[in-house]
Amino acid sequence: MTEQASPARDAAAPPSPTAPVRTAAVIPAAGRGVRLGPGAPKALRALSGTPMLVHAVRAMARSRAVSLVVVVAPAEEVASVRALLQDHALPERTDFRVVAGGETRQESVRAGLDALPEDVTTVLVHDAARPLVPADTVDAVIEAVHSGAPAVVPALPLADTVKEVDPRPAGEPEPVVATPVRARLRAVQTPQGFDRATLRRAHEEVAVSGDGATDDAGMCEALGLPVVVVPGHAEAFKVTRPLDLVLAEAVLARRRANDAF
Ligand code: CTP
Ligand code: MG
Repeated sequence: MTEQASPARDAAAPPSPTAPVRTAAVIPAAGRGVRLGPGAPKALRALSGTPMLVHAVRAMARSRAVSLVVVVAPAEEVASVRALLQDHALPERTDFRVVAGGETRQESVRAGLDALPEDVTTVLVHDAARPLVPADTVDAVIEAVHSGAPAVVPALPLADTVKEVDPRPAGEPEPVVATPVRARLRAVQTPQGFDRATLRRAHEEVAVSGDGATDDAGMCEALGLPVVVVPGHAEAFKVTRPLDLVLAEAVLARRRANDAF
């Protein structure tokens, strides 16, 4: 190294470009998948023969910046998930850990954050239920965090117009309260990316009652921190209901067909 010590220049330089950066992905995968119907926990159900979680872990590992993946598994499945990830090879550069999740997604994310080593500076939080997110989307989120945004969410414009209603029991007509301007709305996806200290603070200071927060970026907003949106991707959709499995398998079949040529 020929680098010269230059105290004056060092003092003027912003600290971030020289500080070491390490990016980890936390994958909440401890949900049951009630809306998908009876069966194994959602993350462990197969998509084209491979558990959804394995697809999701590979989607994170495909980004060269991600050197660690922390999977938050259903408490009774921690050992089996560890074995599953050992069986399904990840790139050499990617390390993984498996920890037990909680009752809500928010608790599960918190358990994943608690398992991160000290040197991690950037955190992605990615739903196991979004197994097909493309690497370019993951990289776009990471890049925005590394460019200085403390919280970044990938999102897409909506196809449908959205109405706010006064909710009534299922089947009853519901009075419309408002119609937000569609052009200003975005449907948010994951991975959401954060400066680690920011996300940590959000989880420590923002108390969400009931089912907890389903959106980590929303917790940062509650702290008054700026959150930015980058373009999401149609293939980052969440597998929620049975029809989503059909779509996911169709996407995988198309990828296989494209790879064959
Ligand atoms: N999740 C979690 N811990 C929980 C609840 C959810 O880690 N206690 C995870 C899920 O495994 C999923 C992600 O959060 O990867 C998004 O949640 P969702 O799509 O709602 O999945 P489930 O909660 O499993 O599905 P459902 O709400 O239909 O039961
Ligand atoms: Mg849920």
